[in-house]
Amino acid sequence: MRFYLISAIVTLIILITVISFRQDVWQTYALPYDEEQVGLNDQITINFSHVVAENTPKGLAADKFAQLVKEKSNGKINVQIYPNGILYNDENELAALKNGDIQMIAPTISKMTEALPSWQVLDLPFIFEREDQIYAALHGELSKTLLAELSSINVHGLSFWNNGFKQIASKNELIQTVEQFQYLTVRIMTSDLLSQQFNLLNAEPISTTFNDLYKKIQNNEILAQENTLSNLYSKGFYKMQPQITLSNHGLLAYSVLMNEDFWQSLDKSSQKIITQSLKEMDRWQHEQAIALNEQNLQQLQADPNVTLYTLSKQQREEWRVALQPIYQSYNNIGNPQFLAQLYQDIKN
Ligand code: LMR
Repeated sequence: MRFYLISAIVTLIILITVISFRQDVWQTYALPYDEEQVGLNDQITINFSHVVAENTPKGLAADKFAQLVKEKSNGKINVQIYPNGILYNDENELAALKNGDIQMIAPTISKMTEALPSWQVLDLPFIFEREDQIYAALHGELSKTLLAELSSINVHGLSFWNNGFKQIASKNELIQTVEQFQYLTVRIMTSDLLSQQFNLLNAEPISTTFNDLYKKIQNNEILAQENTLSNLYSKGFYKMQPQITLSNHGLLAYSVLMNEDFWQSLDKSSQKIITQSLKEMDRWQHEQAIALNEQNLQQLQADPNVTLYTLSKQQREEWRVALQPIYQSYNNIGNPQFLAQLYQDIKN
């Protein structure tokens, strides 16, 4: 009996040893060296969260940025994009960036004004007449000063991206005159200046995150909104708010931001790749935004359920006059020098 037991144990040990060797359990091999392969330890991952769809000026710009840095770094820098607010929304993305839970975001300038009131300068109504003025503002002298201001909230400012002019989309009535704004519930991005803008028009501004907007329109809590055609189109808002006034009354643009500690942790050459990639895509991004809004305009024009109306010169002037007091408010709570610099940047 004892003999059989010992034989069984010895056989089992021999079996385990043979199988283990055949399965390479105790063998260690050096991984083959591949010059083109960046080691996992050398990889830099930048998680980039944003709230809009991929086929929008910001969505396309984020993709282009990821592609450029990947090329320039030979795959060492990997930008992982999380669109549509799947990770963070308007209300928590800045906190997530500052905590280091995410490395990059690109909130609208309006959404930064709670932390940096002087940034409201780019939200002033009727300050831009043409697209080239927008480019001059987002990439001129003022833009450098605005980016530098981010250090006061411990955020690294990289660049600005354009989306385009905001329009007014309404559920029931096509908005043409200042009087039609009375008591109208209008969704705004969280911003004192935007709130004041609609208060001056006697409307009822309601601040809502982009992610919550669809539901609130559906529930009739919000009848109108100001947004770009690309945002109205890509999220299907135009289906519920099909009366669209082409007012070009304000700008919707983005600040491209990085977590400050993460930025400082990057080596100089990675920092250079990031800044160069963004610089290289400035013009492309601006033109892409114009083209996309134009394409969405054509798609909306082709939709029989959508009404598009361009403000007459006189109506535009009436809106402008009604909103004029906001400039004085900006000078009181913002920075008059920023406004002067903006005029300087866009004057040509
Ligand atoms: C909005 O909230 O309407 C926009 O800021 C969304 C965006 O990021 O373009």
